[in-house]
Amino acid sequence: MASPDLRAFARANLPEPPVRVLEIGAGSGRLARALRTAGYDVLAIDPGSDSDDVRPVALVDLDEPNGSFAAAVAIVSLHHVDPLEESCRRLGELVEPGGTLVIDEFDVGAFDTTAAAWWLEQRRALGEPQPKSAEELVHEHRDHLHPLERILAALEPHFELGPPVRGPWLHYWKLGDAFRAVEEEAIARGDVPATGARVVGRRS
Ligand SMILES: C[S@@+](CC[C@H](N)C(=O)[O-])C[C@H]1O[C@@H](n2cnc3c(N)ncnc32)[C@H](O)[C@@H]1O
Repeated sequence: MASPDLRAFARANLPEPPVRVLEIGAGSGRLARALRTAGYDVLAIDPGSDSDDVRPVALVDLDEPNGSFAAAVAIVSLHHVDPLEESCRRLGELVEPGGTLVIDEFDVGAFDTTAAAWWLEQRRALGEPQPKSAEELVHEHRDHLHPLERILAALEPHFELGPPVRGPWLHYWKLGDAFRAVEEEAIARGDVPATGARVVGRRS
């Protein structure tokens, strides 16, 4: 995904271009392409990607010189990365001392049945009813994604991390940018938990 708010979040926290940036779990490579257009020298990696713009390698296996990136960006990818602790150690080696880490995450611990029911309701409103219940969705997600606390604990030996800034995330998941304001309203009313978390760190 490369919505304007994500591109703005990345750009606002990255050092000024031209610098070398690693994108972890780049998916289709949309954000990497946007950052390249902005003047960054981006190496985008993702073992599951078939995009020509993305190198199909896992973080733990990335063979690049230590300290060769001024910054790294990970958009909802670290919760999938295995082995988590070893991959974060490799990330610490790849980013130069004082370099920047920009993370956007889905906090699976905050994804409760209230959040899942809200998401299901929006999908129904779009004419896309889902076969699973809110309980099933929560169970399924918590079963296979790394919780935010574990991700932060794996990064902390290598990066000085700012506090997670909580915010909307569910609209990214098969809803679309038009639902961002709807989700923000629901969070502001206290009807839905904030399932997004953004963190900026520095290589220590
Ligand atoms: C939810 S997708 C997010 C993709 C993209 N960042 C986006 O925002 O659309 C998570 C991505 O992390 C990738 N991934 C999983 N394990 C990884 C690893 N060990 N190293 C790098 N990327 C990994 C997956 O292949 C997947 O494309």
